[in-house]
Amino acid sequence: MLAWESDTKPLMLAPMQGLTNRGLRSLFIDMVRPDVVFTEYVQVQSGGRKVISKNDRLEIQETSENVPLVVQLIGADVAAMVTAAGIAEDLGADHININLGCPYGRMGKRSAGGKLLQDPPGLARLLAALRPEISGSFSLKVRAGFEDSSELFSLLPLFEDSGIDFLIVHARTVAQRYSGSADHTITAEVVNRTTLPVIANGDICTTAGGLHVQQQTGAAGLMLGRGAIGDPFLFQRLRGKHAAVSTPGERRTELCGYLQELTRIYQQLFCGEQQVLAKLKEILAFVPDPECVRWIRQLRKAKNIARFTALLTDEC
Ligand SMILES: Cc1cc2nc3c(=O)[nH]c(=O)nc-3n(C[C@H](O)[C@H](O)[C@H](O)COP(=O)(O)O)c2cc1C
Repeated sequence: MLAWESDTKPLMLAPMQGLTNRGLRSLFIDMVRPDVVFTEYVQVQSGGRKVISKNDRLEIQETSENVPLVVQLIGADVAAMVTAAGIAEDLGADHININLGCPYGRMGKRSAGGKLLQDPPGLARLLAALRPEISGSFSLKVRAGFEDSSELFSLLPLFEDSGIDFLIVHARTVAQRYSGSADHTITAEVVNRTTLPVIANGDICTTAGGLHVQQQTGAAGLMLGRGAIGDPFLFQRLRGKHAAVSTPGERRTELCGYLQELTRIYQQLFCGEQQVLAKLKEILAFVPDPECVRWIRQLRKAKNIARFTALLTDEC
């Protein structure tokens, strides 16, 4: 069961395909202890025995004491989604979340992910089938509508009636994909219009930004994605347990420690030097600090792990 004290505002690590694998999640838990972590989305296959792939099963099994693991499912086949939710719970999921935001959400001829926001009857069928079969708690992660926010507002009664425990709003429409910026006036309006706890997500990259979204929306908690991938300490900054802003020197030291530890973990998790390097370089895309640009460029050009780690050691 995923629950939190009513007077605390949980900080959640967002699901991010290609990034929030079990290695990165365990590092975040050790470094900054998010209140909740999510798997990357688990694509649910229809029609076969393997509704969840072997690798996704490994991801789900990797739970950590005291930090609830949310398994996020995406799919279009109602029966397969129900089976997948049961498997995920059997494997140790603390909570099931359904992805209603992915802009690439079509599976075969059927709608999945963000596309389901345009299919209220299909969505109603999916939620009605899932709720009685999920023994623990259950949530949805949505965008601010497909084309515009009126689509989201009109779905709120359905969400309330379907017995979900909370709603995560990434305050961009599906049509926007990742362009423009998250509009948290929409999050605030969702908070006002629904009795469900709402978690605000989108473009929270700094302490000031996070505190502003919290105050502006009155959300029940925040979800951090790209901002936390580039700066795991954002969790502690928002809790007031780390400097709100680090100096450039402190930032480099923080980044070095983070990347060194991730290098060690990824060498155990992934096979082959080039795959490990590629996974590490994916993280670098989310480090925005202008004063680190030259160093990051050098890290991106590293052709092997020895060079990558030498650049980290030199900088620390
Ligand atoms: C590379 C990448 C992968 C993502 N994968 C997922 C995913 O698997 N499931 C999901 O619900 N959202 C996914 N998202 C969306 C994020 O969870 C989050 O909603 C979005 O990035 C906005 O939050 P942010 O500005 O804090 O990053 C992904 C985003 C990115 C950039």
